[in-house]
Amino acid sequence: MAEMGIFEVMYSTRALRRFKPDPVPDEIIAKIVEAGTQAASGSNDQNWLFMVVTGAEQRARVGAIYRKAADRAHMTDYIKAKFGGPDRQGQLIAKSVVHLVEHIQEAPLMIVPCLKSSAAMQDPKFRERMGRLEGASIYPAIQNMILACRALGLGTVLTTLHALYEDEMKEVLGLPAEYTTWALLPIGYPTDKFGPVKRKPVAEVAHRDRFGNPWPGRR
Ligand SMILES: Cc1cc2nc3c(=O)[nH]c(=O)nc-3n(C[C@H](O)[C@H](O)[C@H](O)COP(=O)(O)O)c2cc1C
Repeated sequence: MAEMGIFEVMYSTRALRRFKPDPVPDEIIAKIVEAGTQAASGSNDQNWLFMVVTGAEQRARVGAIYRKAADRAHMTDYIKAKFGGPDRQGQLIAKSVVHLVEHIQEAPLMIVPCLKSSAAMQDPKFRERMGRLEGASIYPAIQNMILACRALGLGTVLTTLHALYEDEMKEVLGLPAEYTTWALLPIGYPTDKFGPVKRKPVAEVAHRDRFGNPWPGRR
């Protein structure tokens, strides 16, 4: 397969939630995780750890937690209410979200990116002011892996629902106490198509110099 350009990858990386059962070869998994490890982190601490879940029983356990969290968050009702209108695109998203809730354990690969809290984060005052640093030290790695999946012809979607049962997830994964999970990526060869993604236009979301000045616009 010819290498894809970075913009082609970004513009076609949409949330994919239905997967073929075909296993993802270890050398491909290694490429995905390595792409994650190329990301930046605060002070280059690299306090991350990537749980690669491929065993059917472990996937079932992780899937059960995701489902339980989706139930607790009334995910299905929320999605049906949000996308229940006549908009066909919305209906397709709703179906895909509900499909994932019901079938997530069928994804042949799951990656759970984790981060070890730095000592400074144990101080509540520091955490209150700088808490965002934590996510900022793992989500670049997560996005790298999502883009790597796309480039390798694999589908995935960033999910976070399982965090409602963080302790159970850590128990299932055998994670030491100092680690926190930051996402659950179900991964597999997709049955749906890649992008293009639908996003707000730049003119709607970018401002020049001070809030309210349009970008692009005249200087
Ligand atoms: C922080 C975050 C949490 C998300 N959590 C979930 C989730 O729990 N379940 C799910 O199916 N999708 C989840 N998503 C995927 C979003 O719904 C999806 O990326 C968004 O709708 C854009 O979809 P598109 O790329 O197909 O346009 C999450 C995305 C983000 C960024």
